[in-house]
Amino acid sequence: MSTKISMKKLGNSSIEISAIGLGCMGLSEFYGDPTSDEQGCELIRHALDNGVNFFDTADMYGNGHNEKLLAKSLKGRREEAVIATKFGIVREEGKYARSISGKPEYVRKACHDSLRRLETDYIDLYYIHRVDTDTPIEETIGEMSRLVEEGKVRAIGISEASAETLRKAHAVHSISALQSEYSMLTRDPEDEILGLTRELGISFVPYSPICRGLLSNWAPSEDKTDFRNMLPRFQGESYAGNKSIANELSLIADNKGCSLAQLSLAWVCAQGDHIIPIPGTTKIRNLDSNIAAAEIVLNKKEISAIEEILAASEVMGNRYTDEGMKGVDV
Ligand code: ATR
Repeated sequence: MSTKISMKKLGNSSIEISAIGLGCMGLSEFYGDPTSDEQGCELIRHALDNGVNFFDTADMYGNGHNEKLLAKSLKGRREEAVIATKFGIVREEGKYARSISGKPEYVRKACHDSLRRLETDYIDLYYIHRVDTDTPIEETIGEMSRLVEEGKVRAIGISEASAETLRKAHAVHSISALQSEYSMLTRDPEDEILGLTRELGISFVPYSPICRGLLSNWAPSEDKTDFRNMLPRFQGESYAGNKSIANELSLIADNKGCSLAQLSLAWVCAQGDHIIPIPGTTKIRNLDSNIAAAEIVLNKKEISAIEEILAASEVMGNRYTDEGMKGVDV
């Protein structure tokens, strides 16, 4: 295997992960028609062959399909991969409406179901996908820590939790990763979470670092299978305003000799050594470009030029619908 990408430690664990991971969600659902299993497997194996070992999935992506695809792709190569999966968003197949569960008995069942679909006897990083406001976080983490003791889980993570919840969780069991949406156009984690994760030795894992394709060449369409077409920031005037920010940022990418997607990843990585983004892609050429982005270093002048554009711009529209905001920042 060639190592074309540098490695980092996952939080305070001993697990080694590549400086950029692969978000697998879009291979199964949410971003248009699913990719064929054959192409999905090819992409995931190509990632492994090129040093990317950090694979992000969840039980709810394609209602189990995404985890099964990962299992299929990693046949005979399980030990080379660091599998991150998540539980807690409960929904019916094909429906977006969801409820959130962090009840201990649900945690245990969800873990066993994921292990079965992933065809493995351990999950490297097990995340709470969204925080259940009806169950004390201590109870959810308590059950996860028993899964660690039993050898079924190696490290614990939380997605989209508030700083207060993260502190409480970390007091029960060491948290290795906090995953939230973060990009040049979604900077909420800068308020508290980036600093807190750094202070506690927790990896910060940005999802949607390319703003779901807005910081590349994705554009809204009539496609109902692409959930971005429902998101407030991709509607009408909001999309037009946000796209014009992206266009301004493109000029900086042009000067740097990289793509806007690469600039977006380099910018996210420049915000802290403990940051490991997981861009999602369905295409080998984009994966290669994302791997190359891990080596792009932005100088102070470039960072200030980006900052100047962002300070003068207002990103319009929420990042989710109200349904999607359930369990976010709690
Ligand atoms: P998420 O984490 O939710 O998957 P993201 O990583 O911010 O979101 O963006 C994913 C989108 O960016 C996808 O539409 C992906 O399109 P492809 O599947 O066609 O690749 C796009 N994308 C990812 N990497 C890209 C790259 N290097 N160049 C252009 N588009 C890219």
